Amino acid sequence: MKNPILNLLDFEKAAQKRLPKCIFGFIQGGAEDEVSVQSNREAFNQYKLLPRVMVDTTERSTETQTFGRTWSAPFAIAPMGAMAVAVADADRMLARAAAAANIPFVLSGASLRRMEDVIAVNESSWFQAYLTAQVADNLSLIQRVENSGFRTLIITADVAVGANRENDVRNGYTSPLRPSFKLLADGLSQPRWLLSNFIRPILTEGMPHFENFGGEPIPMLSRAGLRLHRRDNFNWESLKHIRDVWKHRLVLKGILDPEDVTRARELGLDGVIASNHGGRQLDCTIAPLAMVEEMSRAAGSMPVMMDSGVRRGTDVLKALALGAQHVFIGRPFLYAAVMGGQAGVTQAIGLLQAEIYRNMALLGAVDFSDLRSRIREI
Ligand SMILES: Cc1cc2nc3c(=O)[nH]c(=O)nc-3n(C[C@H](O)[C@H](O)[C@H](O)COP(=O)(O)O)c2cc1C
Repeated sequence: MKNPILNLLDFEKAAQKRLPKCIFGFIQGGAEDEVSVQSNREAFNQYKLLPRVMVDTTERSTETQTFGRTWSAPFAIAPMGAMAVAVADADRMLARAAAAANIPFVLSGASLRRMEDVIAVNESSWFQAYLTAQVADNLSLIQRVENSGFRTLIITADVAVGANRENDVRNGYTSPLRPSFKLLADGLSQPRWLLSNFIRPILTEGMPHFENFGGEPIPMLSRAGLRLHRRDNFNWESLKHIRDVWKHRLVLKGILDPEDVTRARELGLDGVIASNHGGRQLDCTIAPLAMVEEMSRAAGSMPVMMDSGVRRGTDVLKALALGAQHVFIGRPFLYAAVMGGQAGVTQAIGLLQAEIYRNMALLGAVDFSDLRSRIREI
């Protein structure tokens, strides 16, 4: 094999060769100068592991308890919107692979597949919503989420407005996709991809729509922009209202400041996710990893989870050692679906889980509660 896939980073290089430029750019890119994208990865190098040797780790396990359930690994699939522009039916592929591997899968509110169809293939899926201060819209969306059977709702807080992704502007990527010669030429540069992910699925199943925002479904390919209510008015009062009406688990994603963690705890949230959206929203934000320890202190017994830049088993172990309860990973799982569909995602999950399991032995850790003293900032 010329370029075998040995780890999560390898999926990116491979997927780049398969996808039209603007679709790959949409997945890989970040906001403005992509400083956050880079520093999310660099942050992991600021911490080093401190192994303890000759520990009998034969009984070690990657299992973890999050929200009262035992999962097979401490990582999850992060919510990613519009995945069907890259892989037809990606949402259900990722959901199925996660169910088979017993890790959490989060369906994005900006997905191109109805939430009811996704929870049908993975009954323990979590749902991520983008909310506005429009109470009536929120209520009908939340009602639908509950009726579909979701019991964990994540509200994403770092998207007050759309980000400045200049890379998308340069490549001609828009959401929804606006038909243009540039887009057509880009699609035609990958004819096999175009046929199996665009032409054939649209001919057989029809045009995918953004169906989970609330309001009228919007087609994936359209001249119109997304007509969304403004979100920059969504505030702690709005969140309190959601807390009052949603009786199940409620998690806030996209926060970094320990004071916001304290507010979330005081509002009775069930967890928070330290995240800068993988560097896709405000550029130059501090890397979530660097905030995990302080955020965990502010959270008390409320779980702090994290994402942005996690690629290696050692990254996962570092995040857990700093106090994260669970980590989320985005881009690599979508690239894995590009490469091998559901089997590709299963392969990616397996690679990461094997890294964690191997590294626990090398670190001298039997379970994740052993990790707290095994890290140093340098
Ligand atoms: C293509 C793409 C779409 C995304 N869409 C959403 C979304 O709809 N909702 C959300 O909360 N986060 C979204 N995110 C952010 C991810 O949930 C996650 O925070 C981020 O990807 C983690 O960083 P990583 O890709 O470096 O692992 C998206 C990320 C990507 C790459």
